[in-house]
Amino acid sequence: MTRHLKVDAPIPDSPLDHMAQGVLGKPVSRLEGPLKVTGRATYAAEARPDGLLYGVLVQAAIPAGKVLSIGDAPGALAVIHDPRLIRYAAQGMATEGPTAGPDQVEYMGQAIAVVVAETFEAAQAAAQALQITYEAKDVPVDPEAVEPERPEKKQSATGDLDRAMQDAAHTLDQIWHTPSHTAAAMEPHAAIAEWSGDQLTVRAGYQMLATSREQLADALGIRPDQLRLLAPYVGGGFGSKLGINADSVAAAIAAHQLGRPVQVVMTRQQVFDLAHRRSETRQRIRLACTADGKLTGIGHEALVSNLPGVSFSEPVTQATPFTYQAAHRQIVHAIARIHRSCAGSVRAPGEAVGATVFECAMDELAETADIDPVELRLCNIPDTEPGTNRPFSSHKLAEALREGASRFGWSDRRPTRQRLEGEWYIGMGVASAVRVNSLIESRARVILQADGRAIVETDMTDIGTGSYTILGQIAAETLGLAVDRVEVRLGDSDFPPASGSGGSFGAASSGTSVYLACAEIRSQIAALAGCDEADLTLQNGQVRTGNVSRPLDALLTAELTGDGHLEPGKTEDTVRQATWGSHWAEVAVNRWTGEVRVRRMLGVFACGRVLNEKTARSQCLGGMTFGLGMALTEAMEHDPRDGHIVTRDLAEYHIPCHADVPPLEVHFLSESDTYVGPLHAKGLGELGICGAGAAILNAIHNACGVRVRELPATPDKIIAGLQD
Ligand code: MOS
Repeated sequence: MTRHLKVDAPIPDSPLDHMAQGVLGKPVSRLEGPLKVTGRATYAAEARPDGLLYGVLVQAAIPAGKVLSIGDAPGALAVIHDPRLIRYAAQGMATEGPTAGPDQVEYMGQAIAVVVAETFEAAQAAAQALQITYEAKDVPVDPEAVEPERPEKKQSATGDLDRAMQDAAHTLDQIWHTPSHTAAAMEPHAAIAEWSGDQLTVRAGYQMLATSREQLADALGIRPDQLRLLAPYVGGGFGSKLGINADSVAAAIAAHQLGRPVQVVMTRQQVFDLAHRRSETRQRIRLACTADGKLTGIGHEALVSNLPGVSFSEPVTQATPFTYQAAHRQIVHAIARIHRSCAGSVRAPGEAVGATVFECAMDELAETADIDPVELRLCNIPDTEPGTNRPFSSHKLAEALREGASRFGWSDRRPTRQRLEGEWYIGMGVASAVRVNSLIESRARVILQADGRAIVETDMTDIGTGSYTILGQIAAETLGLAVDRVEVRLGDSDFPPASGSGGSFGAASSGTSVYLACAEIRSQIAALAGCDEADLTLQNGQVRTGNVSRPLDALLTAELTGDGHLEPGKTEDTVRQATWGSHWAEVAVNRWTGEVRVRRMLGVFACGRVLNEKTARSQCLGGMTFGLGMALTEAMEHDPRDGHIVTRDLAEYHIPCHADVPPLEVHFLSESDTYVGPLHAKGLGELGICGAGAAILNAIHNACGVRVRELPATPDKIIAGLQD
């Protein structure tokens, strides 16, 4: 039986608050952790089917134009230049394969062919020996050098911002630039494809199986039911595995042609070229406020880029309309069509860069208006969503700011450049954290075996975030079992389709479907026990009704099955759903070298119910570390001549490593959001990055008086500022 729920109304009382097991929310360690640390969790490239062949992707050496000939590769079994090879990765949740036709090159590094051999080394040598001829075309690669598109439905304006700017007591009008960012997941993209008759199995790194299956079937010209995807363990995605990429398409075509299983693994440099980048942005922020800091005008104009014809564009201003109140507003979204690699979702698309820049602007306005940055934020928090007047589903920004200020010791903050310790200026910064929240349709099946053990099956993925553990906890809590009595099976497209992992929606969406499946089983148990469901208590494998208690396995004569089906409903529209928080950073800036050392950070977050305190905290630690990278080191540099990515390995693309990351503290505010289904849980995965970099950049200014608006704030930029 399927228990279906469409979230059309708030659920004031969460059934999970009345369960007896007491395991939900607890810091349970990852159920699959031992498998991972002992090498028994097999990632995409680690299966070894008999007769496995190795494919290496061949990449275009021109920024745009036509492939005329590919040439031969002695030593290779095949050089495959199939028209179905895709030009760039599919966007998350797309249901069609991305544009195919590798003859048409759209960016330097595009996959144009795959060379297959008996060994990886032979395939790589053969690929390098190919004599490829092209007809190259001149194309724009600089987003500032083209006239951008301004899609009508992405612009919005209320009141008269220019007028508000003229009339205001204090204003700010500045431009920021953020560079392209990579997802750079630890596990490179990889696929192993194997045919059996007209049935294809692909093991690969995917975040979302259900839509990836549709994309891959469409790209190959087969039916989705001919295709099974397996991704039980995924070494990180960060957006880059939301949709299919060249590896799985090439492996599937090659395996079909050669009649043997084929593996295609991207090198790290290929991952940089072929996985989506986060678009670089140019952001102009205008702010106007009264003498006491009430915002009267907000302007946020974003320029992003992507390849011609690609629908995704970085939603930079996503949270701007509802974060702060102001009567006069203008939001501009412009897209430069250029030939850098394909842009897509990367680590909190939108707010990661949009809120970060906006929160830097708020800090500048606070300085201009001589108002404490925390106070400026507090006095501009709206009661309802500006423009629409919709209520917020829950709203903890003010509490996050107040709680953070007290925990971090904000009252010790000194005016700019007033704290010098040896050769280091010390400063503190703050920023608000905000991220939109959504639920995505999800299904799950739970089987309660006659021996009282439960099995959870859903095509949900665990990309390192803790899905196995959280879903196990939800089932254990609802069925009254110890966590080790629940087996969670994920990452197989034969299982009921779930949200997948993306957009912070995975845990709450797939978790709700698992809860619903278990709730269905609870009804069946109540029927067996001959009692009302309301009178049923399930705990430690015992069934309790009134004062009678008996073992669950004694009650069960056969296995029970429950299916859960969650659909988002009216609460998507009736309320504004978001998660909130605050970021705090203390930095030291070297007065001679411009080096920045982050000394400590605090993040205070509210995401509704916390499903697992340990995995939730880890998500936030990761996000805050991304913020540190965004502020200080991360930049995907494009060659100005051809748009090609110059910093395309982890030696040149600088992400923070251990010595860069100081003690990070995470504090969760207790919260319950009734509009997001029975769990009362919202998405948390990406909140930790949204605004984190701004706290650091604002702390740099407080330390040494330098504003860096061209991210990242590398020492050369700080020194230049110090000399002014
Ligand atoms: Mo996320 S960038 O939707 O994986």
